[in-house]
Amino acid sequence: MSVTSNNATPPTPAIAPGVEEYDPSRVARGEQDCAWTGRLGQRDVDAKLRELVPTFDAPFFQAGLAGYSDAAMRIIARRHGCPFCVTEALLDRTLIAGGRGFTKADLGELHDNIPGGVEDHPLACQIMGSDAKEMAAAALKVAEQGRRGDKFYRKLAYKDLTIEQIEEMRTQHLRPPGEGKGTQIGRIDPTEGLGDVGGGGGGGDCCEVEDETCETLIDEVNAIEPGIGNREPRIGSISETRLPIPDSRFPTMSFEVIDVNLACPVKKISKKARGGHWLQEPDGAIEILEAVREAVPREIPCTVKLRRSFNDTPEMAAAFERIFDAAYSMGYSWATVHARTVQQKYIGPSRWTFLRDLVRRNPDKIIFGSGDVWEVHDIFRMLGYTGVTGVSVARGCIGNPWIFRQARQMIAGDAPTAPTVIEQRDVLEKHFELAMAVQGEDVASRTMRKFGIRFVAHHPRGEEVRREFIGVENVGDWRGVLGRWYG
Ligand SMILES: Cc1cc2nc3c(=O)[nH]c(=O)nc-3n(C[C@H](O)[C@H](O)[C@H](O)COP(=O)(O)O)c2cc1C
Repeated sequence: MSVTSNNATPPTPAIAPGVEEYDPSRVARGEQDCAWTGRLGQRDVDAKLRELVPTFDAPFFQAGLAGYSDAAMRIIARRHGCPFCVTEALLDRTLIAGGRGFTKADLGELHDNIPGGVEDHPLACQIMGSDAKEMAAAALKVAEQGRRGDKFYRKLAYKDLTIEQIEEMRTQHLRPPGEGKGTQIGRIDPTEGLGDVGGGGGGGDCCEVEDETCETLIDEVNAIEPGIGNREPRIGSISETRLPIPDSRFPTMSFEVIDVNLACPVKKISKKARGGHWLQEPDGAIEILEAVREAVPREIPCTVKLRRSFNDTPEMAAAFERIFDAAYSMGYSWATVHARTVQQKYIGPSRWTFLRDLVRRNPDKIIFGSGDVWEVHDIFRMLGYTGVTGVSVARGCIGNPWIFRQARQMIAGDAPTAPTVIEQRDVLEKHFELAMAVQGEDVASRTMRKFGIRFVAHHPRGEEVRREFIGVENVGDWRGVLGRWYG
């Protein structure tokens, strides 16, 4: 999505009367009394957050951005000081089907365990969907890095389906979130490979697994607690067993956080809610949150992404409050609140007044704020004005990883520096290389065009460079543009 389209309007300041009283540089240095420093008693990251994610050492992070925030973008952001990233929203059903939703977000293979390599941590995997059981199975799959066969996760999701539900699912299509018919990636057959699962009859036993990884896993689990690895899978019990992950830096998990998307405004599928549409149906939203929290091993924090409401009616405002309160009371570690409504999509300003009031009413909770963070000063304006624990940087970091470096410079008391043309070249080169590692040259060339046209905002002859990035077909073209325009 471009910044301006039918669903989005050009950058405007957020609704935040009085925000001009906050001097971003003084807020960053902790020299101005404000909601952020007042709340913490010091200019630092909330200790509760550091306990959950020890290396989350600055009050900002890179948001989930469908179509952008893959491992390549995340690694570039991290190299510029971003302490935490979120994947793009991955559809539960795609994940369970073993589809592209998972692997495209990864630099390595699914079974390689570490998203985007060791550099790509800490990382939240964001999932989105329409059904509590599918969401739970998908959450468990990503928490475990898919180290059991796909059949195992499908069984968790589908073993209690009725014949009618199976038939209905067979008629539905799989598509990445937000994309149209052209990007359809297939259909799901919920019973594929599972034997007799219809009509609530239950399938075979848990050993009906499809690869060696899974058999090894069951051996390992049995070594810890004899018999458990062969039990009938039941969400909540299987996940309590710890899985060994072969990486010394991140010994217990591959994703540090599982984030549930209840915010995406993209239309419902087959009349079923998903993303932000759940904000109209608080019971269903709460059911999903419960199922996911129960499925994911306790040591992995679960979090939720919300919009401030579905729309501006009092009924929907009350629904938000119910879901928000329920999430924390069932053990969700934080909520990231995008201060626009779902109905608003990306049109018009976000309401920082809403974030400020939410933080005032919930002073002990970790709350992240999102909406209208366009450049580095907005990070500190939002912190100062609202007192959120941290700021989600979204459109403000597309083609601008330097926003993270600048934020750290400001915290250190230095003036933020703009990237030189040579620094831009370096990032453009590295980003393309990483994108090729994730997606291969053809797809990377297409993806990188849309990044290129955002990066040109930093170039003194941006308009001319933009035209050249649009014509890029392969890595040679890309390097050609860099050679001509970036010295
Ligand atoms: C192209 C695009 C893709 C997005 N994809 C996601 C996503 O996958 N997950 C998510 O939680 N938010 C997603 N968002 C929402 C952003 O994370 C953020 O909440 C929103 O853009 C508001 O912040 P901003 O006004 O500073 O951009 C997306 C936004 C855009 C523009």
